[in-house]
Amino acid sequence: MCGIVGYVGFQEALPIIISGLEKLEYRGYDSAGVAVYGNGKVSVTRAIGKLGELKKLLNERSAEAGGSLGIGHTRWATHGKPSENNAHPHTAGRVSLIHNGIVENYVELREELEKEGSQFKSETDTEIAAHLVNKYLNKGLDPFDALKAACADIRGSYAFLAIDSQNPDRILVAKNSTPIIIGIGKNEMFVASDIPAVLPYTREVVILEDGDMADVRCDGVRIENNGKPVQRKVQTITWDPITAQKGGYKHYMLKEIHEQAQAVTDTFRGRVEQEEGAISLPELAFDDKELAGIQRIVFVACGTAWHACLVAKFYIESFTQIPCEVDYASEFRYRQAVFDKNTLVIAVSQSGETADTLAAIELAGTRSPTMAVCNVLGSSIARKVGNVLFTHAGPEISVASTKAFTTQLVAVYLLAIYLAQRRGTLAPEKVGELTHSLLHLPAAIQQAVEVNSAVEKVAQRFRGAKDFLYLGRGICYPIALEGALKLKEISYVHAEGYPAGEMKHGPIALIDENMPVVVLLQRSKELFEKTISNLREVEARGGKIIAVTDFEGSKELHALTQNVIEVPFVSDFLSPLIMTIPLQLLAYHIAVFNGTDVDLPRNLAKSVTVE
Ligand code: M6R
Repeated sequence: MCGIVGYVGFQEALPIIISGLEKLEYRGYDSAGVAVYGNGKVSVTRAIGKLGELKKLLNERSAEAGGSLGIGHTRWATHGKPSENNAHPHTAGRVSLIHNGIVENYVELREELEKEGSQFKSETDTEIAAHLVNKYLNKGLDPFDALKAACADIRGSYAFLAIDSQNPDRILVAKNSTPIIIGIGKNEMFVASDIPAVLPYTREVVILEDGDMADVRCDGVRIENNGKPVQRKVQTITWDPITAQKGGYKHYMLKEIHEQAQAVTDTFRGRVEQEEGAISLPELAFDDKELAGIQRIVFVACGTAWHACLVAKFYIESFTQIPCEVDYASEFRYRQAVFDKNTLVIAVSQSGETADTLAAIELAGTRSPTMAVCNVLGSSIARKVGNVLFTHAGPEISVASTKAFTTQLVAVYLLAIYLAQRRGTLAPEKVGELTHSLLHLPAAIQQAVEVNSAVEKVAQRFRGAKDFLYLGRGICYPIALEGALKLKEISYVHAEGYPAGEMKHGPIALIDENMPVVVLLQRSKELFEKTISNLREVEARGGKIIAVTDFEGSKELHALTQNVIEVPFVSDFLSPLIMTIPLQLLAYHIAVFNGTDVDLPRNLAKSVTVE
C-alpha cells in the first residue's frame, strides 16, 4: 500500500502534492518523492524516511518550485528495501512514474527490457513500468497509448501515474485492483489514492474502476476502459476531513477490518500459480540440501503474531510432517531452548521491530537457519534473518492487529504448502486443492465482514459483561485466544481463550448466567458435534452462548442460542481466517459501547520495542 498524488492546473503543484501526501501518509511512510515539471524540465526529489525528510530536502533546493504539473508518492515497500533509489518517482527517458500495487511479472519484464538496453537504478517492480512507457513513447506512441501498451504487458495490481517531459500538461493514469480517484477542479485536476488528499481543494470526485485509463488535463479528463471511452459519475463528498482520513469509518480498526479481503489478496497475489495449482515463493532462497536438512521448525513471536504461529503449526505439521513448536519470543531466550543447524527458526512479526522477537531470532541465528514472516520491509527483524516472506497488509495504524493477523495466516499457509511441494510430502492434487481454495478466500472474508450489524446487536446484548470465555477446538483454538486478546486490549474487559475440550478441567467452575461464552464451531462433523456437547455443559449451568460458525443452519446450534453468527465456509484449513472476523468486530463494538479509545488503547503501543 502506498499513497499517490498528482496535480495539473494553474497553481504551484508542489505544496498541493505535499499536502496531499501528508493526508496519505497512513498508506506508507518508509520513503517519499516528487516529480514536478517547471522551467522546461522535470525535477525529481526523493528521500528515505517519513515525509518530513522529503520536506527538509525540498526546502534546501528550489528546482521543483513554480511548476504546475507534478506527481508525488509516499511508499510502503513491497519489492526492494526502503532506500532513496527505490523511492518513487522512477524515471526512464522522458517518463516519471509512481505506482501503488505489485507488478507480478516484473522479473521476466525486467530481463526483456535489459536485453533491449534499459538500465535499471532500483530493485523495485515499479521501475519496469517507467521503462516500458518510455519504450513505447520512443516508438512514437502518444503518452496515453504508451501507458496503455505498458499496462497490456504488465500482470498485477496497479494505480500508475505518469508524466512525460515532452507533454507537460497531462497526467496519465491507469488503475487495476488498487484505488485511485480524480478530484475535479476549475481549470485544475487532482489525482490521488484516497479522497482526503483532494478534499481541501475540491469535493467533486470521480472514482476510477478496474481497467480504467485516464488522460488528465487541467480542463478535462478522458477515461477509457478496454480501449473504449467511458463516463464515470462525479460524486460530491460530504465527509469532514477526519472521517475522510479514516475512509468514512469511525476508527482505523474498523477500516482495517474492512481492508482484509484486499490485504489477503495482496499477500497471495503473484505467489499462486493458478494453472499449475502450486505456490511460488522465489524470495525464499533455500537450496534443496538446506530444505532436506530441516528436521524441526520453531516459531517465535509475541501477542497476535504468536496466535498466527499456533495456526501455522497446524499447517506445517499437516502438510509437511515436520515437527513444529511455537514459543513466546520473550520465553525462548530465557531457558535452555534446544535448537541446532537442523532446526529452522521462524520469527513472525507485523512490525519487524518487537524487541523480544528480535532478540529471540538473533539468538536462534547463532545456531540455526532463520527466517521471518514480516509486514515491514527493511525492519530490524527482516534484516536479521536469512529469508523473509513479507505479508502485504500495508501499514496497520490501529494498535489492535486485524489485517496483519489474517495476512500472517495467509503467509504461513503459503509457506507450509511451499515446503510440502519442495519436500514432496503432499500429492500434487492435494497441493492444487489447497492452493485453489485460497482464491475463494477474499470473497468469503468480504461476506464475513458483512455480518457487522448482526455482531453489533450481539455486542449490545453483552456490553455489560465483566468476563468472557472464548472456546475453540483444533485449528480454531488459536482463534479463540486471538478473540479474547482483541476484547481485552481494546475494551478492557477480562477474557480468556481455552480449547473447548479443556473447559471441563477447570474453567467450567466459572460458568454462570453472568459469563458469556464465545464459541467457534467449525463445520467438520467430528469437531462440530463435540463442541455442541461442550455447549450443552455451558447451557446446563446457565451460561450465555455466542456462537460463530461456518456451518449454515444447524438446528442443534440454533436451539442452544439465539446468538449465532454464520460465516461462509471455504475449507477446513482456511476456516480460522474467516472465523476471526466476527471476533474482531465483537471486540470492536463492545469497546465502542464501553467508550474506550479503540485505536489507541491505554497502556499499549503499536510496536513494543522494549523488553
Ligand atoms: O509487530 P509484532 O507483530 O511483532 O507485534 C506483536 C504484538 O505486540 C502484537 O501482535 C500485539 O499483541 C497487538 N497489539 C495485538 O493486537
